[in-house]
Amino acid sequence: MTGARGAYSRTGVYLEGGADGPKHMFVRIGDLVARRADAAAGFDLLDVGAAAGAFAAYALSRFPAARVTGLEHDPALVAAARAACPAATFLEGDANRMAGLADSAFDVVTMTGTHSIFDDFRPSFSECLRVAREGATVIVTGIFNPWPVDAQIHWRYGARFEADWHPGYNLFSHLSVATFLEAHPRVRGHEFVPFALPFDLAPREDPIRSWTEAGAAGERILRNGIMPLPFASLVVAVGNR
Ligand SMILES: C[S@@+](CC[C@H](N)C(=O)[O-])C[C@H]1O[C@@H](n2cnc3c(N)ncnc32)[C@H](O)[C@@H]1O
Repeated sequence: MTGARGAYSRTGVYLEGGADGPKHMFVRIGDLVARRADAAAGFDLLDVGAAAGAFAAYALSRFPAARVTGLEHDPALVAAARAACPAATFLEGDANRMAGLADSAFDVVTMTGTHSIFDDFRPSFSECLRVAREGATVIVTGIFNPWPVDAQIHWRYGARFEADWHPGYNLFSHLSVATFLEAHPRVRGHEFVPFALPFDLAPREDPIRSWTEAGAAGERILRNGIMPLPFASLVVAVGNR
């Protein structure tokens, strides 16, 4: 007997918090937000899959005039986010059906490390585009396959045969995403901005947490105990065509 395909649950990892300074990925996403003309004057930002509010807090520290909302599925993380970052608003909700969020309400929508939990990227991407205003930027950061192949990946810790399979590392190709976006009436354009860590990351006890290794040409490869992780930020310019 093997475990069933379970729901996503990594609450403990995100309640742990306590990293030294903002995650480097947050800094790079902030750099993409900083390209906007309204970066200093203020904008409405929605962070989807906000966990315990670490990115919301970073966004407010870097863009103090921003109005920040976080959407998160896990009630324990919503409570932790509200306590950790009272200057932002946190809502419990589903990335795939953002009930209660109006159309065209945000200038920036970020979704980080979240779309690979879903078996289909299109509902969450459609919702990000729906709640984004004319002229908005949607930034989806996570793993995307540069090769034209999509993969559904379910994992469990070795030898725990009875445990449920975890989601979280589904891989959607640049081609699938581009095909979807190019047919979407609210998308003006998109680019994939590759993400690379500028420092080494040591492996930790949990083999699902990522680390770096040197590739054959000395390049720094980010990977976990499943596979190399082709991280990128998908930057979508929103506007009626
Ligand atoms: C891998 S974590 C990334 C957290 C955070 N964005 C970061 O980069 O540190 C994925 C987050 O998405 C949340 N999540 C999972 N399914 C969701 C859904 N259907 N709607 C909204 N959030 C969801 C999880 O609870 C978790 O906080």
